[in-house]
Amino acid sequence: MFRAARRIGKERTDVSIQKSIQLPLFEVLEEVGGRARPSEVYERVADAIGIGEKSRQETRTCGDGQSYRVFDQQVRWARQTAVAEGLIAGDRGIWELTDSAYLKLGKIRRGAVVLIYTTGDGFALWAHAEDAASYIDDGSVQLLMTSPPYPVVNREYGRFTVEEWLRWMRHCMGIWKSLVASGGTIAVNLMDVFVQGTPMLSPYVERFTLSSIDDVGLHFAGRMMWYSPTKLGNIEWTAKRKVHPRNKLEHVLLFSKAPRPSWDITRIEMPVKSSSGRKVKRDTIRPSGMDICESAFVSGQGLPSNLIIAGGASGNDTYSRRARDVGIGRHPARFPEAIPRRIIQLATAPGDICYDPMAGSNTTGKVASELGRRFIASEPMLEYVRASSLRFSHRSDFRLKEEIGDVVGSQAQ
Ligand SMILES: C[S@@+](CC[C@H](N)C(=O)[O-])C[C@H]1O[C@@H](n2cnc3c(N)ncnc32)[C@H](O)[C@@H]1O
Repeated sequence: MFRAARRIGKERTDVSIQKSIQLPLFEVLEEVGGRARPSEVYERVADAIGIGEKSRQETRTCGDGQSYRVFDQQVRWARQTAVAEGLIAGDRGIWELTDSAYLKLGKIRRGAVVLIYTTGDGFALWAHAEDAASYIDDGSVQLLMTSPPYPVVNREYGRFTVEEWLRWMRHCMGIWKSLVASGGTIAVNLMDVFVQGTPMLSPYVERFTLSSIDDVGLHFAGRMMWYSPTKLGNIEWTAKRKVHPRNKLEHVLLFSKAPRPSWDITRIEMPVKSSSGRKVKRDTIRPSGMDICESAFVSGQGLPSNLIIAGGASGNDTYSRRARDVGIGRHPARFPEAIPRRIIQLATAPGDICYDPMAGSNTTGKVASELGRRFIASEPMLEYVRASSLRFSHRSDFRLKEEIGDVVGSQAQ
């Protein structure tokens, strides 16, 4: 009697462990391309749910004397439950996510591209960046502007080590180079991250820059810095231990296909004039001996700089309010409109195409459209693409496709 009760209790625990393993197991399978051998997933699932090395190595011995790792066995049970629910297919040697599992994850299958909505001046695809590219004409994009997931940071849409991230981004930059017009620009917004467990900055931004130049063959056309007065800084090293100054800067790296991209700073609208609009009286001969035109010193009318000052995206803007009203989750890591606005004005003319391959809430598309440019957006998380449609759904030229959209890729084949 006592034994039976204990067994029932134990089974309950195993079932709840299996359930808590199931989603990370799907995410890991998705990260490695949708199918994998069991031995390729155990370690990654353990990392994903934070199982320490000691628990990971714990073994038990069966009645026949064979020993097995307890954690790996739990992952196998989680897989068995998922097979029974139609979420994992394949034989014991290969585990493969089914379409139902992808829908549960809300993430598109690799290789598939689905059109979710269109407007008179743009369209949004549900797709991974690598796949969406095959539906865009080479040389048609004047500006590719994006903010990729940063390495090391855990988000519901993935996590990467620095090495994995650099490999992935080198691959993407190679694909994007073909899409961009000869005078076109690729703009990438990146945030500094720390080497895990230390207050040292990861030099991944520098490594990415060099790899884009040396391996991909792009030109390093410029760099903008985004200063965000509202940025909080790192919790561990700034707020708790107080050893690292609050980092309020992010990078926007600008690469071009040609040594002279079609940029024009006169298209950049400058911040509102100072209240007086008076000229600031200064000597036009600088200490260096250079003569600088007086108009550069007119308050609010100087030449545009490479500094963008803007707080983070508001949690109460129209997009957020509409998302709240219809009960869709907002995107957790939007950039403010000021970022794409400055770059679009610098690097494109009205009518040009701006493409954001990691579009999230499609801030880039919204600003591009407002500025009279055309937009393309792609994003692998369905929830985000749906929420981004709320930026355009009030317009008469807005067309939402079917629930999952017109399948233009292999998803439904
Ligand atoms: C920092 S967010 C971009 C936010 C966006 N700039 C905005 O303002 O809403 C990065 C986005 O990249 C997406 N992402 C992750 N992996 C991707 C992939 N393989 N291809 C394309 N996008 C990806 C994530 O789902 C996420 O929405």
